[in-house]
Amino acid sequence: MRKITSGIYGLNPLLDGGVNENSTTVVIGRSGAGKTTLATQFIRRGLQDGQEGVFVSLDENKEQIIREAVEMGWTDILDYLDDEQLVFIDASGREFSNFIRKELPAFVADWKGSNARIAIDPLTPVLWSTKDLYEQRDLIGFMLKQTRKVGTVLCTLEEHGSTDLTGPETVIPMYLADCVIHLRFDHGPSKHTRELQIIKCRNSRHDPDAHPYEILRGLGIVLEGVDVRHVPTAKGPSQLRQMLLTRALPKDVRDRLEKSLDGLTDDDFRGLKPEQVLELILQEYAKGG
Ligand SMILES: Nc1ncnc2c1ncn2[C@@H]1O[C@H](COP(=O)(O)OP(=O)(O)OP(=O)(O)O)[C@@H](O)[C@H]1O
Ligand SMILES: [Mg+2]
Repeated sequence: MRKITSGIYGLNPLLDGGVNENSTTVVIGRSGAGKTTLATQFIRRGLQDGQEGVFVSLDENKEQIIREAVEMGWTDILDYLDDEQLVFIDASGREFSNFIRKELPAFVADWKGSNARIAIDPLTPVLWSTKDLYEQRDLIGFMLKQTRKVGTVLCTLEEHGSTDLTGPETVIPMYLADCVIHLRFDHGPSKHTRELQIIKCRNSRHDPDAHPYEILRGLGIVLEGVDVRHVPTAKGPSQLRQMLLTRALPKDVRDRLEKSLDGLTDDDFRGLKPEQVLELILQEYAKGG
């Protein structure tokens, strides 16, 4: 999997180097969590590297999104728009659902392989365009599969009520997306807390912990407590791999296990104790045991 840098300060190390190219990510958060900021930051990072950007806006109109980006200090957005490297699609949920059903294949045929970044903010009205859960699943599934052919896709999703992400509006996109990021936003009477947590990421390691973040003018979302010196690609062999070498095992089993453990670091084991994992492996492969 090729990784692209997200543009979100501190997120790449949590995703083993960045977002998987041609994948679909859903970012879930309450109002004010920073969804639009994150989507703009992601698109803008691509623009800086010469990638095209498509911003599909379903709630706010183009002018509002641009005004917010400019307020954020991201005035270069205006130049990318002038150069048509950034394209806006201003639509309501119903219009966009019809676009998905009728015009998306032609759009994909046009843009296929262009390696653009696509943001859809927010996906929620698309879900609301039909009550039928099967149809919702079909529509979102089709949209994600198609848009992935054009480039790397990031959709935002509104979170309503409880923060356990079990509501029907979150469950369907969560199943269908490759990567799910939760922006947890709590606003008590005296203070705000914001935390980002990666819920799942297909085809990649990811950090499972919640990380506090701030939204800063000029920078956007910045995560706290991310060890940037920890480079996940510079892998030392795990303790388990070392231990394995000292144990008696048939050669074919050892070779296979060595291959499985290739590239794993001690960090990957998190709470698991390497010596216990080794015992489980040995038990699994013990002849007659
Ligand atoms: N120019 C700015 N300078 C500093 N902070 C900003 C700026 N613009 C936005 N923010 C911060 O980002 C927060 C909102 O972010 P954003 O609009 O991305 O949230 P959202 O999740 O998209 O909300 P909604 O669901 O209402 O669309 C603001 O409440 C503010 O704290
Ligand atoms: Mg928003």
